[in-house]
Amino acid sequence: MENQYGLIETIKNGISLIYTKLFYSNARLIRLPVYIRGKKKIIFQKGLTTGYGCRFEAFNIKGSNIQKIFIGSNCKMGDHVHLAAGEKLIIGDNCLMASKIYISDISHGQYNGSSFNSSPNESPDQRPLFTQPVHIGDNVWIGENVSILPGTTIGNGCVIGANAVVNSNIPDNCIAVGIPARVIKKYSFSEERWIKFSNEEKQNSEVAK
Ligand SMILES: CC(C)(COP(=O)(O)OP(=O)(O)OC[C@H]1O[C@@H](n2cnc3c(N)ncnc32)[C@H](O)[C@@H]1OP(=O)(O)O)[C@@H](O)C(=O)NCCC(=O)NCCS
Repeated sequence: MENQYGLIETIKNGISLIYTKLFYSNARLIRLPVYIRGKKKIIFQKGLTTGYGCRFEAFNIKGSNIQKIFIGSNCKMGDHVHLAAGEKLIIGDNCLMASKIYISDISHGQYNGSSFNSSPNESPDQRPLFTQPVHIGDNVWIGENVSILPGTTIGNGCVIGANAVVNSNIPDNCIAVGIPARVIKKYSFSEERWIKFSNEEKQNSEVAK
């Protein structure tokens, strides 16, 4: 795709490029402003490109001084992508993310019916942080305004539709949309096309959750 940046945008990109090469030499372009917390716990392979206002946060919740966020090679993100991890958030190679995306392995408290559940009388920011790793495969395209919640895995080659909330696992080479995200299509390598899931298959994917 041809880049047609105006003068101001070209200057902003130039400043961001100098910043990138000084502080994140293996990235392609990290646009300013960017907010990075726990830099040593965030690893990315070469070629990362980000839009404006991205926020990457790695916390010492499960284990200190170990890497929490892994971003594969040649990933591209739009504006205001927020990644937060206290245990493990893995993003594969060649992933494309639109803007306003939230991906995290952290929750303020637990709500799953176990005896460790958080009390509503406790201030939410005082509830013990609970983590469940998130894993996103290679060649995944994530649409605008998507949230990917703790404990989820998205397989290689998936597409996550705009505005989806992913709270369960999505198998390889599927398109998932909606809240909660459900698989609507799967790629058939024998037919070389995306095939719509029947309603029965959609229901089975819900049962398998
Ligand atoms: C997910 C997506 C790629 C699907 O495209 P598609 O396969 O051509 O989708 P279709 O038009 O065949 O839709 C299939 C079904 O899913 C529904 N659907 C499609 N996208 C949806 C979405 N984002 N949320 C909810 N439902 C959606 C359609 O309404 C349709 O439902 P139906 O079978 O009940 O009629 C596309 O809709 C999308 O969300 N793209 C992301 C756009 C974006 O964020 N771009 C940013 C640029 S990086």
